[in-house]
Amino acid sequence: MLKMLKILHCHTDHVLVLFLTQDLLQLGKLCNIPDIISNPVNTDDMIHYYNTTTERDYRILQFFRGPGMHSTLCLPAPVLRSAATSVQPTMILAKIHKSQCQSVLEIGCAHGYCTLFLANLCPNVVFKGIDIVPRHIEIANQYRQDQCYVNTTFEICDAISIDVFEDETFDLIFAVEALCHLDTSAKRHDFLTCASKRLNKDGKIVIIDGFRSPTFAQSSTEQQRAMQIAEKGFRINEMASKSAWKHLANDLNFEVLEDVDLTQEVLPFWQQGWRIARFILNFTYLLKCVGVFSKAAKQSSSNLLSIATTAHAFKDRGAAEYGMITLQKKA
Ligand SMILES: C[S@@+](CC[C@H](N)C(=O)[O-])C[C@H]1O[C@@H](n2cnc3c(N)ncnc32)[C@H](O)[C@@H]1O
Repeated sequence: MLKMLKILHCHTDHVLVLFLTQDLLQLGKLCNIPDIISNPVNTDDMIHYYNTTTERDYRILQFFRGPGMHSTLCLPAPVLRSAATSVQPTMILAKIHKSQCQSVLEIGCAHGYCTLFLANLCPNVVFKGIDIVPRHIEIANQYRQDQCYVNTTFEICDAISIDVFEDETFDLIFAVEALCHLDTSAKRHDFLTCASKRLNKDGKIVIIDGFRSPTFAQSSTEQQRAMQIAEKGFRINEMASKSAWKHLANDLNFEVLEDVDLTQEVLPFWQQGWRIARFILNFTYLLKCVGVFSKAAKQSSSNLLSIATTAHAFKDRGAAEYGMITLQKKA
C-alpha cells in the first residue's frame, strides 16, 4: 500500500525519466509492444475506438479531472477544474472576436463541446460542427436540440470531404485534438486544399493539437517508443509535426500567422493521467486475464497505453509537443 501511495505521489519530470524504462517493461507484460507499433491502424479502427471505449474511459479521467474531452491546459497555474477544459475553446473565442467572424466550422467536434460553448457566447455567429463518427454527431445534435441552439448545426463528415460545403462559406475553420488523426501527408494535403476553398478571403484555420516534436528523431529510443505507443493507443499511425503542417500550408498558399507552444501547460493533465495509469499497471496480470474474456477491457488497455506514455513523450518536448498553429489563406 505504501509503495502504491509513493507511486501515486511521484510527479516530477525527473521521476518521469526514471520510470520510462519501468513503464515500458510493465506495458510489455500487458501487450506485445513491437506488434502494436508495427501494425498500422485505419479509419475503421479509429471509429471503433471512439464508438466503444473512449466515453467510458474519459468518464474515469473526468472523475479526476473534470469535464471535457480534450487535454486540460493549466494557464499558468492550475485553474478551476470546471473551467480548465474551456481553455481551448476560449482561445478560439478570442480569434472569432478579433477577426469578427460570422461563420465558423469545427472539424472533429465530437459531442459538440467546443462548438456549443462558442455558440452560446456568440449568438450572432453561425456554427457548424462535423465529425466522422455518426454516434458523436447524434449526441451533439441531441444537446443542440435540448438546449435550443438556433445558430448551430452538426453533420457527419470527414475532414477531407468538406468539399460538400459551398465555396467561401467560413471565416474560421478550427480543430481541437482532431486533425492529429490526419496521419498521412496525403490526408493533410486534401484537407488543406478543401479548407482553402471553403474559407472566405483572409479566412483562418486554427489547429490546437499534439504533434511529433522537431527533435523526435534525436530523442532516446525509449522516448520515441513512448510516442509511438501513445499514437497507436489514440489510433493514429504517426502524428504530423508542426513543421510538416507549416510546410504544407506554405505550399498551398497559406501564411503561418502564429505558432504557440502549449506543452508545459498541458503536461500537468498528462502527468495526472500517467499517475493513474501507473497505479493500474501494478495489476497487469489481472488486466491481462480480464482482457482475455472481455473485448471492452482489451480496448481499454489500448487507452491505458496512451495515458501511460503521453507524458513521457512530452518530456522536454523530446518526442511530442502540444500547441496551436494559426494559418491564414493568402489573397
Ligand atoms: C480527441 S477527439 C476531440 C473532440 C473535440 N474536438 C473536443 O475537443 O472535445 C477527436 C475527434 O476527431 C474526430 N475525427 C477523427 N478523424 C476525423 C476526420 N477525418 N474527420 C472528422 N472528424 C474526425 C473523432 O471522431 C473525434 O470525435
